[in-house]
Amino acid sequence: MNTASAPLVERVVSPWDKWNRATGCECSWHAKRASRLAWYKESFLDLGVGYGRNSRFLLDDGFTEGVGVDKYPVPIEIRQNFSSYQFSFIRSPIEEFVIPQGSFGAIIAAHSLYYCRKESLAGIFEQILKGLCPGGIFVGNLLDITDPWAKDPPSLPVSLLDDSEVRSLTQGFRTLEHLKSRPRNEKTWHNHDLVLQKP
Ligand SMILES: C[S@@+](CC[C@H](N)C(=O)[O-])C[C@H]1O[C@@H](n2cnc3c(N)ncnc32)[C@H](O)[C@@H]1O
Repeated sequence: MNTASAPLVERVVSPWDKWNRATGCECSWHAKRASRLAWYKESFLDLGVGYGRNSRFLLDDGFTEGVGVDKYPVPIEIRQNFSSYQFSFIRSPIEEFVIPQGSFGAIIAAHSLYYCRKESLAGIFEQILKGLCPGGIFVGNLLDITDPWAKDPPSLPVSLLDDSEVRSLTQGFRTLEHLKSRPRNEKTWHNHDLVLQKP
């Protein structure tokens, strides 16, 4: 095969490839919480979808359709696992993705907003609010300023936020949960874990 003529998109490997494969099919708390709380299970949006473990859970748990957005391409063998669902993978940075208004019963962003530029977060939260149906649920997390990455930054830039910055981003939502988690895993992320509802 002449690889020089292969589509560029297939040759780009996500820096999260290892992480996305290692997390496998087991979904995170974000998907479970969104599915439990969402009033409308027609449609959801997964921002920073990775290889889709959370989207898969939502589709199997009653959502009719979904969209997953990620700035890196998703390998063909992963996309094939979704062929029997009403689901689309869209390649786009979250910062540039225009969320259709009033379209989603749930929007999740699991461990992905960490990597969005701080100055873009206000616009992203504005879009999330507009993108949800009334009563729609957002579940996601942001990094807290106490995260060890503040002192020892990773190779990719991350955004760290204090409580008042998170409060300002989430104005306009009803805050159902704003927890500060300190999981004892190998990375020990210090998170703002958010469950928000569009009034
Ligand atoms: C730690 S992984 C989490 C993947 C998935 N949410 C999960 O929990 O399995 C972070 C994901 O966010 C994506 N990502 C990071 N920054 C992004 C950005 N600015 N726009 C879109 N996707 C982004 C990465 O490509 C990666 O797939």
